[in-house]
Amino acid sequence: MISITTLFSQARRVLIASVSTLVLSTVVMTNANSADTATTYNNSCAACHDSGALNAIKKGDSAKWQQLIKQKSMPTLINSVKSGMIQMPAGGLCDACSDDDYRKLIEYMSK
Ligand code: HEC
Repeated sequence: MISITTLFSQARRVLIASVSTLVLSTVVMTNANSADTATTYNNSCAACHDSGALNAIKKGDSAKWQQLIKQKSMPTLINSVKSGMIQMPAGGLCDACSDDDYRKLIEYMSK
């Protein structure tokens, strides 16, 4: 027969295991989020926004970017990237990017 104490200690072990998994995945996710914006830019957005390919607004064209941010607002621009546009593929070639990553990338391009 399994005693109550055994049951309790088993339950506690399961709980501790899931809590540590949670802590671990949070750490991994935080690392992914703080990944260098410049690196993410080079690996995804740069394909079009560096050269202005397909008429993408160029990185560093602050006047155009500032105007667009003012016109549409940052949340709208983030949604544009996520759902894609006429020429821009949904996600802008960055599958792992969060909303916050997109915001940082847009700010990076607008400077
Ligand atoms: C395959 C080329 C391509 C890639 C890769 C790409 N873009 Fe774009 N992007 C475009 C083009 C072209 C436009 C202009 C709108 C259109 O014609 O699709 C655009 C427009 C935008 C806009 C303006 C949206 C609006 O509402 O006017 C933002 C913001 C943007 N891109 C951000 C990004 C970010 C951030 C990345 C990287 C994660 C990225 N793009 C990757 C081609 C690209």
